[in-house]
Amino acid sequence: MGFSQQRSVSRLGPNMVIRPNKNALDRDDVDVERAAPSQKRMVVVGAGGMLGHRVADIARVHGWDVVAAPRQTCDITSLSGVTTYLEQVSPTVVVNCAAWTDVDGAEEHEAAALAINGEGAGNLAKATAALGVRLIHVSTDYVLRGDDNGGRPYAEDAPTDPQSAYGRTKLAGERLVAEHNPNHLICRTAWLFGEGGGNFVDTMVRLAGERDRLDVVDDQTGSPTWTGHLAAALVQLAGSPATGIAHLAGAGQVTWCGLAAETVALIGADVEVHPVTTDAFPRPAPRPAWSVLGSTRDDVPRLPAWRDGLSAHLIEVNAAHA
Ligand SMILES: NC(=O)c1ccc[n+]([C@@H]2O[C@H](COP(=O)([O-])OP(=O)(O)OC[C@H]3O[C@@H](n4cnc5c(N)ncnc54)[C@H](OP(=O)(O)O)[C@@H]3O)[C@@H](O)[C@H]2O)c1
Repeated sequence: MGFSQQRSVSRLGPNMVIRPNKNALDRDDVDVERAAPSQKRMVVVGAGGMLGHRVADIARVHGWDVVAAPRQTCDITSLSGVTTYLEQVSPTVVVNCAAWTDVDGAEEHEAAALAINGEGAGNLAKATAALGVRLIHVSTDYVLRGDDNGGRPYAEDAPTDPQSAYGRTKLAGERLVAEHNPNHLICRTAWLFGEGGGNFVDTMVRLAGERDRLDVVDDQTGSPTWTGHLAAALVQLAGSPATGIAHLAGAGQVTWCGLAAETVALIGADVEVHPVTTDAFPRPAPRPAWSVLGSTRDDVPRLPAWRDGLSAHLIEVNAAHA
């Protein structure tokens, strides 16, 4: 193994609470003539999102010269815009956290989702390849079939077979990234939660304060992943030679209902969490019954257990409201 997973993971415990640096997030280097070369400059695309801002924060802690690029700064749907921007900033690595993430909305607006998740990712791959820059691209379990996979986690070599428009657009992005930049790493993850974005855990915390019973789907199983854990792994991988596809998700597995029950228990709410089936909440996009991701690679880190991520997130949420 080219780098130490343990060393990285040991820095990721629940006590490591990194507050977002809003001033740094706003940094916008697109107007500079041309940035001075840096041995270790990272552009985080989609830096206004739940994962993107965390990647930028953690990369700074790890000594990267970070340029956080929200959509207003770097819109990935424009190849010329992306190319000009990256030429000016002159990074050594780009981490793409930008995406159309409205899974249900993608069913009705697949072309719009494809422009970002597919062609947008392809634009980044073309622009980074032309500059000899490494690309870390974030993808999803939705590119997989999402059936029970024999009760085993999906490994990186599992056949892709997306069942939703969102999944199809993300798979298109994976293919374009692989086609256009040989120095790429596609990092698939699942069930993200973290500070600074709408997510299931925060919804459960809010509802636990409003209701005395929560009906939660218990026939979908996944690997909940704290953005703090994932972002640290992405930063580690940004500086590694690993290429291809890597699965990065919180260790272990649980249903949405189990995740809700654990959340409620940790915050000490007096709420009944009641299991229901997927049919109880019809949605435009089909949801995978099985989103458990595993890795067979020895050159990518394993993330800590989802429970550790949940504790870390709830500590952060609590601190923010203190
Ligand atoms: N959330 C999950 O549960 C989950 C699970 C598996 C994989 N993922 C993947 O993880 C990654 C990060 O997800 P997230 O949850 O952090 O998403 P998010 O909070 O929705 O952030 C996505 C960011 O992308 C930006 N964006 C959208 N269109 C853009 C464009 N054309 N150019 C540049 N930026 C654009 C958005 O900006 P605006 O806000 O201005 O639109 C937003 O800040 C995505 O690749 C997603 O597919 C997420």
